[in-house]
Amino acid sequence: MIKIAVFASGGGSNLQALIDAQDTGLFKGKIALIFSNVPDCGAMKRAENERIEAVAIASKGYPGSREEYDAEVLRLCQSKKIDLICLAGYMRIITSVLIKAYPFKIMNVHPALLPKFGGEGMYGHHVHEAVIKAGEKESGATVHFVTEGVDAGPIVLQGNVKVMGTDTPETLAEKVLKVEHHIYSESVRLFCEGKIKVVDGRVRVSL
Ligand code: GRF
Repeated sequence: MIKIAVFASGGGSNLQALIDAQDTGLFKGKIALIFSNVPDCGAMKRAENERIEAVAIASKGYPGSREEYDAEVLRLCQSKKIDLICLAGYMRIITSVLIKAYPFKIMNVHPALLPKFGGEGMYGHHVHEAVIKAGEKESGATVHFVTEGVDAGPIVLQGNVKVMGTDTPETLAEKVLKVEHHIYSESVRLFCEGKIKVVDGRVRVSL
């Protein structure tokens, strides 16, 4: 059984989608830990309701470096024997301390079709505003492995939505979020079934 940690900093709708997918038996994995850098975020409240072990270490005011912070997070994950880390609205760039310890075992969900509209500063409403401003007719969501480099790792799954002339960043975010929930659960399913391989920096999914 693959042991999963979900890292979140915000409302936690992706976390909820993963919990729901687990409960319906979509993937053979267990969410064994919910971690946050924001102790009072919505995701932590969801964890409480679901009775899943949740740990928060406030990044705001943390006395050490980013690497020291991640070393603490790593020790936590190792102590729980975590196999897969899912970043789900985790608003913090993680360092090589975690990335090296979990090669191609950390996934992230991004609210656009990477490699477009990714990188530093491209998060939350900024992404949807940029998509609309560029006049894109299509947007979507991407699940990718986390490597060093923001939003740059191998793509696991993507899903599309149409961008209508009447869309606002809010309506687009809502549509994209639905796709995120779906492709994230599917990506975790594929991982748990051992169907994802990274070859030459690209993901190969075996069916
Ligand atoms: C999602 O749009 C995700 O792509 C981004 O942050 C948002 C998190 O939403 N990284 P939620 O906290 O899962 O509801």
